[in-house]
Amino acid sequence: MKGVILISGSGSNLQSIIDNTAKIDLDIQAVISNKEEAFGLKRAKIENIPTHVLNHTQFPTREAFDQQLSQIIDQYNPDIIILAGFMRILTAGFTRKYVGKILNIHPSLLPKFQGLNTHQRALDAGENEHGVSIHFVTDELDGGPIIAQSRIQVLTNDTAESLAKRVLTEEHKLFPKVIHCFAQGRLSLKDNHVILDNQCL
Ligand code: GRF
Repeated sequence: MKGVILISGSGSNLQSIIDNTAKIDLDIQAVISNKEEAFGLKRAKIENIPTHVLNHTQFPTREAFDQQLSQIIDQYNPDIIILAGFMRILTAGFTRKYVGKILNIHPSLLPKFQGLNTHQRALDAGENEHGVSIHFVTDELDGGPIIAQSRIQVLTNDTAESLAKRVLTEEHKLFPKVIHCFAQGRLSLKDNHVILDNQCL
């Protein structure tokens, strides 16, 4: 299965996917970042994966950025587009074009805490549990159909940082598994509903 991975930052999820490519039957065709300084680009280069930087500040509109992004993606004709810490809102035109083949990872138990600063918001809300969600991307920000979640307990002395660390550990385990399900044809999106054979997780 051919995949393109979009990032904006450290790329620790990218790394966990790279480390599992053989196991999950994924051929990473390219890594695209909207930030030149994203450490994930270095991780990709070490693995000889083609990289692209698309600086969103150089585009007049979101549509113009997404059009260029789409052109780069289409060069690779991927089966899956993986948002692994890609911190840009995508336009409806873009998400509709690829519906059913874009997956995003979000550090909260959606539908709770869409958007940013999820760990602090979970603490502020007095949550007992927190976690990560992986979902199909639709034109609703962090609102597409949920594929899988992994939970952690919130401890009395937790900070946003300690929560982020434990959630990230879960992210690194869950994302490769979900991608593998997709590669095996055991995960798909039909009429905005997730079709998943849970045994592959
Ligand atoms: C992760 O917590 C991901 O869920 C969120 O941004 C973070 C990216 O981390 N969307 P990394 O770049 O994969 O290390």
